[in-house]
Amino acid sequence: MARPRLTDDQRALLAWGRLHLRDLPWRDTRDPWHVLVAEVMLQQTQADRVVPRWTEFCGRWPTPASFAAAPVADVLAAWQGMGYPRRALNLHRAAAQVVERHGGQLPADLDALLALPGVGPYTARAVLAFAFEADAAVVDTNVGRVLARRAGERLTPSGAQRAADEWLPNGRAWVWNQTVLDLGATVCRPVPDCERCPVAEGCAWRGGSAHPGNGEDPAAGSAGVSRRQSKFDGSLRQARGAVMAALADGPVRVATLQVPGGYDVAPVVASLESDGLVHTTGRGRSQTLQLGPSPV
Ligand code: ADE
Repeated sequence: MARPRLTDDQRALLAWGRLHLRDLPWRDTRDPWHVLVAEVMLQQTQADRVVPRWTEFCGRWPTPASFAAAPVADVLAAWQGMGYPRRALNLHRAAAQVVERHGGQLPADLDALLALPGVGPYTARAVLAFAFEADAAVVDTNVGRVLARRAGERLTPSGAQRAADEWLPNGRAWVWNQTVLDLGATVCRPVPDCERCPVAEGCAWRGGSAHPGNGEDPAAGSAGVSRRQSKFDGSLRQARGAVMAALADGPVRVATLQVPGGYDVAPVVASLESDGLVHTTGRGRSQTLQLGPSPV
């Protein structure tokens, strides 16, 4: 792999990374399946909550084939506590596709990865960079914030990907991407700490308290940068999470279920059922709810 000379800010950021890169267990593996599991979990769950779940998952289901063979209810029970359980269903379908179409090995190809359920532009490139050490640049919410501020303007999805591709030093994609992710997660936060930023010199915005008066944060509304969840979405998610939690150890009678946030149980159960996350058996007072889609 050709390694071109680094620019000053690339060198400064990599030097910062050597001192500050977080010690996270998925950074010690290049197993593509284990990398995919980590990246799907990290899409919407904080790294410290992912660590024990990822370790447990990879121990229990070390290959796509072993995971594809697991009952959906076991998969959903193991996902318990991380939220957004549709990710677990997609990962299960993705594992089945990997077995059917790719002989049980994750493909080192962008289009083939993008064709897997639940694998979008971020996750596909994360597998390429973190498992195969290929020259791919990842853009998630943290990186999207860094890129928009650096550019000093809101970016479109293709603009953000282009900016990431251009900044990537070829031949160093693994460490580069991990470093940019950590810069976004620890320094270029929603309220940034520009004093600690190793690439503030090259940043068009330099927002935050250290550099007031530079105008509106370009990360707000820029591609890939997540917005705050509405109160309604947050409380429905909690209610759905409470039902999923109640089922983790086995079936429960619907009549005994209680959900937080003042919701009726029925619409919460219906929304989980239509996502294929739970199914009911029986009727009336003996109606029972359990994890997984209806078997028929
Ligand atoms: N968020 C998404 N991917 C990550 C990774 N590989 N390490 C830490 N945080 C992440």
